[in-house]
Amino acid sequence: DNNPITARAHTNIALVKYWGKKDEKLIIPNNSSISLTLDEFYTETTVNFDDNLHQDIMYLDNKKVNSIKSITNFMDIVRNLSNINKFAKIISYNHVPTSAGLASSASGFAALAAATSKAAGLNLNDKELSKLARRGSGSATRSIYGGFAEWKKGTNDKNSYAVSIQNPVKMDINMIAIILDNQPKKISSRKGMKISVNTSPYYNAWEKQTTKDLETVKDAIYNNDFTALGKTAELNSMRMHSLTLSSDPSYLYLNKDSLLVINHIKALRDKGIECYYTMDAGPNVKIICQSKNIKKIKSELLQSFDEEKIKISKPGEGIKYL
Ligand code: DP6
Repeated sequence: DNNPITARAHTNIALVKYWGKKDEKLIIPNNSSISLTLDEFYTETTVNFDDNLHQDIMYLDNKKVNSIKSITNFMDIVRNLSNINKFAKIISYNHVPTSAGLASSASGFAALAAATSKAAGLNLNDKELSKLARRGSGSATRSIYGGFAEWKKGTNDKNSYAVSIQNPVKMDINMIAIILDNQPKKISSRKGMKISVNTSPYYNAWEKQTTKDLETVKDAIYNNDFTALGKTAELNSMRMHSLTLSSDPSYLYLNKDSLLVINHIKALRDKGIECYYTMDAGPNVKIICQSKNIKKIKSELLQSFDEEKIKISKPGEGIKYL
């Protein structure tokens, strides 16, 4: 019975964002989304079901996690699927700055879904794994896959899951993350998107526009069109952040350092260096660029930020069992 399983999942950054649910319990989104999985940021999780445990226990980066309700709820789903009634010991290591908008919940729940389902004796394919990961966190659906992935919104528990669009990635594409703030964000994406859905007068326009952005980005991937991809991803990200500003109460994930990065990117573009930016539910900015421009972008950023805050990443791979 004691058969520990370890899985690794990489984080992903959405090029067309998921922002809003039509079913909060099952995590069914209002719009489909597209992402790139990154190789530099990942979570490794070991799960062991144990007869001697009376509740689930979890360690994250060697520290005991005290409030694990979302984890226990997730484990209950797997227990129901597999008819297991044991509890589990979960040991997780995050190679992602937690809760700083680098989507650690994506790699976290993808790795947990893979390790837990296998430890429970379930042999899930990628589609089933994606659906299971979705129950933990929406963005985790896409971290099952390497390269470009699309979460097809669907309408219910059975048909809302991600698929691979392209892996390995053909495009020369890198993401440079500037780590601005390691503090946990004040408004979680879960809470933020709920406020946007309920109060932003622009929410319907977002849904409509995102459907178009999704097609543009998908075409750009198939046509290897870096410019169309970068430009649309940047616009889509700022459209999402406009929802936060237009909500009641209004809130904002950008801080003054985020604006500083954006200004550097605009200065680079004025010098003819092509690069774009995207941001999630935190202040960090991710720069989308081709390999030939990494050096110049880095030296521009070094004017304002320390070297260790600048993390360059290439496309990463999907779920792996270790
Ligand atoms: C801005 O997946 O963290 O990163 O489903 O409530 O857990 P829950 O939300 P989460 O939201 C991610 C929001 C985003 C955009 C994206 O990754 O698509």
